Amino acid sequence: MRYNSHVKYLSEAQVKQGAAIVRGGGLVAFRTETVYGLGADATNEAAVAKIFEAKGRPSANPLIVHFASVGQLRKFFPDIDPVSLRVVRKIKRAITVVVERCPALALAVSAGHETVAVRVPACRFTRRFIRACGVPLAAPSANTSGRPSSTRAVDVAADLDGKIDAVFMGRDTKIGVESTVVQCEAGVVRVLRLGGGSTEELRRRLRCPVCVVGAGEGEAVVSPGRLFRHYMPVCPMYVALRNDDMVVRVNAFVADKKVAVICLSGNEKLYQGARVFALGGRAARVARGLFMTLREAEKVADVIVCEQFPDTPDFAAVNERIMRAADGKIL
Ligand code: TXA
Ligand code: MG
Repeated sequence: MRYNSHVKYLSEAQVKQGAAIVRGGGLVAFRTETVYGLGADATNEAAVAKIFEAKGRPSANPLIVHFASVGQLRKFFPDIDPVSLRVVRKIKRAITVVVERCPALALAVSAGHETVAVRVPACRFTRRFIRACGVPLAAPSANTSGRPSSTRAVDVAADLDGKIDAVFMGRDTKIGVESTVVQCEAGVVRVLRLGGGSTEELRRRLRCPVCVVGAGEGEAVVSPGRLFRHYMPVCPMYVALRNDDMVVRVNAFVADKKVAVICLSGNEKLYQGARVFALGGRAARVARGLFMTLREAEKVADVIVCEQFPDTPDFAAVNERIMRAADGKIL
């Protein structure tokens, strides 16, 4: 399984082999539509503990549990509230819902909270693999804690080789940023983490109020992941704020340093003396390429500078990622 790099189709035998590892309490990394996940049997306390160990993940940061179908989810959560159920039924990709925890799932997935995050991935391969496992999979992003999430199988291997039992060496992920995490309360959908699922789509399809929980108002408690540093390259990284002087300031910063600049397509030629990585012009392209570009840029530079992306809703998730990855800003 490990050496079968970038195959488009993983055979039934490989899927069965991975499922046997999961059922035996092991860790298997697999592709989803968002980023690669590091999976373990969500009903097995010891297996879930191994995830935290392999990633070096703080034990206070809870995990998302992945189901093969809404039907499987309902077997574990027969009393799920109607709004949460509507979210998983209507929003087909890159969405995670936080619900009341269920005793059949390992305690460690909730990391001490009374809730658990659940998701039915859109990726057909992911669902096929979960079905083969016969149990839901607890799976955080398949990266060392604090590093950029893995959107390519090779990045999973680079981070976790020797610490996990197998990686399905599949295709790069389509969306490139993690799922949007929401919690439904009194008919309101609260977005705890921006991600690959758009808040606009939530509003349109659910026809109920949707609010994004802002940084500040004690939301570390509702969204524990926000307590920790994330997505960091091995070298320092700065975000260049998008204003009239952005290019001038970045070029002044670049002088006599070995810098990689990550920018929107069209701006490549503006940065002199730097290695430039253009991510495309549209938000979906930028999201797809962002994490792998951070991992490529750190290989060729001592410092990374990333342009802040436009201040529009479609870029909100990638802007949030780069702000969190950054050591500072270029004003
Ligand atoms: O797209 C994704 O969501 C990927 C793929 C593999 O499914 N998974 C992922 O997992 O990004 P992870 O562990 O890297 O991020 C999970 C996020 C964290 O911010 C965590 O704090 C939040 O979900 N979370 C998990 N359980 C929660 C809970 N009970 N209440 C609030 N937030 C929760
Ligand atoms: Mg993660």
